This record gives sequence, structure tokens and C-alpha cells, in this order.
Amino acid sequence: MKKIILFMLALVTVSVLPAADRTNSTGKILVVYFTRTENTRYVAEHIQSLLGGDMAEITAVSAYPEAYSAALERARQERDRNARPAIRVWVPDISSYDYILLGYPIWMGGIPMPVASFLETFDFSGKTIVPFCTSGSTGISQSIAEITKLVPGARVTNGFRVPTNGARNSRNDAEAWLRDLGILQ
Ligand SMILES: Cc1cc2nc3c(=O)[nH]c(=O)nc-3n(C[C@H](O)[C@H](O)[C@H](O)COP(=O)(O)O)c2cc1C
Repeated sequence: MKKIILFMLALVTVSVLPAADRTNSTGKILVVYFTRTENTRYVAEHIQSLLGGDMAEITAVSAYPEAYSAALERARQERDRNARPAIRVWVPDISSYDYILLGYPIWMGGIPMPVASFLETFDFSGKTIVPFCTSGSTGISQSIAEITKLVPGARVTNGFRVPTNGARNSRNDAEAWLRDLGILQ
């Protein structure tokens, strides 16, 4: 009788575990993203809702202008100078994560420079970086090459690109991509 009760308790415990604990068998997950106009945040939220794990936003200490042309001009200058703009990101202990799902908009064909600042702020050796992006039309491959160069000690997986106007409805595609990578079982 005692055994049966214990077994039932175990079943109850498993059934109330949060999504994070059911899907994170591959390791501890951080979903971290940079966004200027929220599109990339939608994708990050879908990914976090699928995988669980922690979520953090990278922000530039000096915010980018709201006007597209002014933002483009600043981004162009930063890329030309290979700048590392000052950022804020609140992550208690980055060393505790195995998978860093890193989201960003494509700027000038590649990563926004605040993402380069992020990649050089922490030690990603031995970790797996899983890139995803939103963009008007540019693919993700150049940005992945840039990330790989900045974090030589990390493994960088295939990425996931969402067109700007599809970001809100990208959950199913994100799920298929994560299953394909084997991060979501
Ligand atoms: C400074 C800047 C540069 C951009 N460069 C590109 C680009 O090279 N290729 C592209 O397809 N889209 C480009 N875009 C469009 C963004 O990638 C796209 O709107 C993205 O979804 C914005 O994401 P966010 O809302 O998370 O900031 C650029 C946008 C900005 C502001």
C-alpha cells in the first residue's frame, strides 16, 4: 500500500513540473536577445515558452534612435569603427548555462554591435550558442560567421531567421527548428 502511495506521489510530482524542467534535459538554457523595435523579442518569447530556461535582454546604454534613418546611420558608423557600444544585461551567472539562445535583428547584413559587446563581455568557452534573428530580407549566415569569430571557444549551431513581419507568428517554425537541432525533445 505504502509503495502505491509513493508511486502516485511521484506521478503527481512529474505532472506538475514546469515546462522548463520537462524539456531542459539537454542542459540549462538562457534565452538572451537584443531588439530595437520588439520583433526579435516575440521570437525570443516563443523560444522561451517552448524551452523554458531564463530570459534576459541586452540593451544599449545609449538607446538607438527611434527614427529608422538615424538608427541606420549610427549602426553604420559603429560597424565601420568595429565599435563595442556599452550594454546592460542582467544575467546572474552566465557560467551556469549550457545553451545560450542568442537573438538579434540583422543590421547591415550582420549582428548589431551591442551583440558583439555581449559576446566579448562573458566567457562562452565550452558553451553552445544557438543564434536566431529577425530581418527584412537578409539571411542569418553572415551573422553566424561573425558570432563564430567572436567566440572561438564556443560551439555555434545552425540558426533560425524570421522575416520581420512574421515574428509574432513564428512559434511553430521555432518549434520545428528546435526539434531539428535536438534541443527540444
Ligand atoms: C540599423 C538597421 C540596419 C538594418 N539592416 C538590415 C539588413 O542589413 N538586412 C535586413 O534584411 N534588414 C535590416 N534591418 C531591418 C531589421 O533587421 C528588421 O526590421 C528586424 O526585424 C528588426 O528587429 P527588432 O524589432 O527586434 O529590432 C535593419 C534595421 C536597422 C534599424
